[in-house]
Amino acid sequence: MANSDMTTSRKVYMETLGCQMNFNDSEVMLGLLKKEGFEPVEDRKLADLLIVNTCQIRGSAEDKAFSYLGTWGKLKAKNPHIKIAMAGCVSQQNKDTIFKRAPYVDIVFGTQNIHELPELVRKAFDGERHVLAVDRQKPRSTYDYLTDVTPVRDSDISAWVTIIEGCDYFCTYCVVPYTRGRQISREPESIIREVLQLASYGFKEITLLGQTVDSYGKDFTDNQYGLAELLYELSEISGIERIRFMTSHPLDLTDRIIEAVAELPKVMEYIHIPMQAGDDEILERMKRGYTSQQYYDLVRKIYDKVPNAAVTGDYIVGFPGETDEQFRNTVESVALSDIHAANTAAYSPRKQTPAAIWEERGQEIPETVKEERLRILNEAIHQQSFKKNLEYANRTVEVLVEGKSKRNAERLTGRTRTNKVVNFDTPFSEDELVGKLVQVEITEPLPFSLTGKMVVNDPVPVACP
Ligand code: SAH
Ligand code: SF4
Ligand code: F3S
Repeated sequence: MANSDMTTSRKVYMETLGCQMNFNDSEVMLGLLKKEGFEPVEDRKLADLLIVNTCQIRGSAEDKAFSYLGTWGKLKAKNPHIKIAMAGCVSQQNKDTIFKRAPYVDIVFGTQNIHELPELVRKAFDGERHVLAVDRQKPRSTYDYLTDVTPVRDSDISAWVTIIEGCDYFCTYCVVPYTRGRQISREPESIIREVLQLASYGFKEITLLGQTVDSYGKDFTDNQYGLAELLYELSEISGIERIRFMTSHPLDLTDRIIEAVAELPKVMEYIHIPMQAGDDEILERMKRGYTSQQYYDLVRKIYDKVPNAAVTGDYIVGFPGETDEQFRNTVESVALSDIHAANTAAYSPRKQTPAAIWEERGQEIPETVKEERLRILNEAIHQQSFKKNLEYANRTVEVLVEGKSKRNAERLTGRTRTNKVVNFDTPFSEDELVGKLVQVEITEPLPFSLTGKMVVNDPVPVACP
C-alpha cells in the first residue's frame, strides 16, 4: 500500500511518451523529485505521485496520454491520497482545458515549467486541488534554470543532453513550435558543465538534443557560437568517447558542422536529418524550405566529406492533398537520397497548424490510403536499409557495448559509430565489456541490425582511457 506520510520516502511513477527531449525532461524531473525525497518506482500501484510526460506530435500520442490518465483516475478513486500530474507537450498547449476533461488530475505543467515541479508538487500535497503552472516569458532556456539538478538517467553509459529548446520553423503540419515555444539555445557554459559532470560519473557517450539541434546558437545575438563550436569544445572533455546530435534540419546543417563531424574523432559519423517528403510541391506546402534535389545534394556532401557516414531521416505520408504521383516521388526519394534508414508516420492533423485547415477543407487523404502508402514506403525503406547494411559485410567496426542482446542472451549488443545496432559473439561477459569500445567483425548484415563477432587480439579487452 502506498504511503503519503512525509516522513517516509514517497514514491513517484513516471510514464514518458514522445521524443528523446521528453525522455531527457523526465530524467530531469525525477532528479528534481529525488531532492524532494521521492524515489522512482517501476510499479505504478506503489506510487504516491503519478506523472505522465506527454507528446502531441500525432493524435495517437495525445490519446495515449489521456488513456493513462483515465486508468490512473480509477486508481485514485480507490486511493485518494495519490496525486496525478500531467507534464509535457499536451499540457503546455492545453493547460486550461485539462482539469475539465480529467478532473482527477492534480497538477498540470508544461515543457517550460519543469524547474517549478518541486513547488507544484508541494502545493498539491499541501491540499491545493488543481495546481496549474503559469506560463512565463522565456528569457532563457528551461535547462539554464536546472543547473543544480542531477537527472535520474536510464543508462550509466550514454546520456541525453538537451542543448536547444523550441523551434522557429513552423512547418505547416507540426505542433512543436506551439508546444515547445520559440527556439532558445542553452548557454554553452551550462552544457559544458553538465558534460564535465557526466564524464566524471563515467558516462562514455552523449547525445546533444534539440528539435533543430543544428540551429543551436542562431538565437545568440552577441556571438557567432554554434553547434560546430560546441562540438569542438565538448571534444576536449576526456572520458567522453562519443558525441552525437539530433535532430538536424536540412537548412541549418552548415559546411562548418559537417567539417566538425569529419574532423573530430569523438563525433559520430551519424546524422539524422529528416526529408519528410520527396516531392517538391509537397515540400513547399510543408514549408520545409528546400527541394528534393537540394536534400540529395546535402546527403551527397555529407557522404563525400565524412567517409562511412550514415544519414537517416523521417517521412510523413498522406499530407493533405498528396496525390499518388507525389507519393511515388517520396518512395523514389528513399533510394535517390541514399539514406540508411527512416522513421515514417501517417499525417495526423494538429490543431493550430495550417495543414489541419487544408485537411478540413476537403484535402484529407482517407485513412485506408494513408495506411497503404505507409506500408509501401516502409517496404522501400526496409530494402534501402538492407542495401546499406550489406555494405558492412566483413567490415570491422567500433562498437560501444551496452549489454546483453535482447534477442539472444548468448550475445552482447552495442552500437556502431553510425548508430547501427550490432549483436555479437564474444568470449567475454557482459560485466567485462559494458561501457567499453570493442572491434567487431560483421558476419551477417540484417535489414535493421548487424550481427558479428568480436575481434580479440588481446586476452584483456581494451578499456576506455
Ligand atoms: N524537427 C524535426 C522533426 C520533429 S517531429 C524536423 O524538422 O525534421 C518528429 C517527426 O514527427 C517529424 O520528423 C515528422 O516526420 C513527424 N511529424 C511531425 N508532425 C506530424 C504530423 N502532424 N503528423 C504525422 N507526423 C508528424
Ligand atoms: Fe516541427 Fe521540425 Fe518543422 Fe520545427 S522544423 S516545425 S520541429 S518539423
Ligand atoms: Fe512530442 Fe513534444 Fe517531442 S510534441 S515529439 S514530445 S517535442
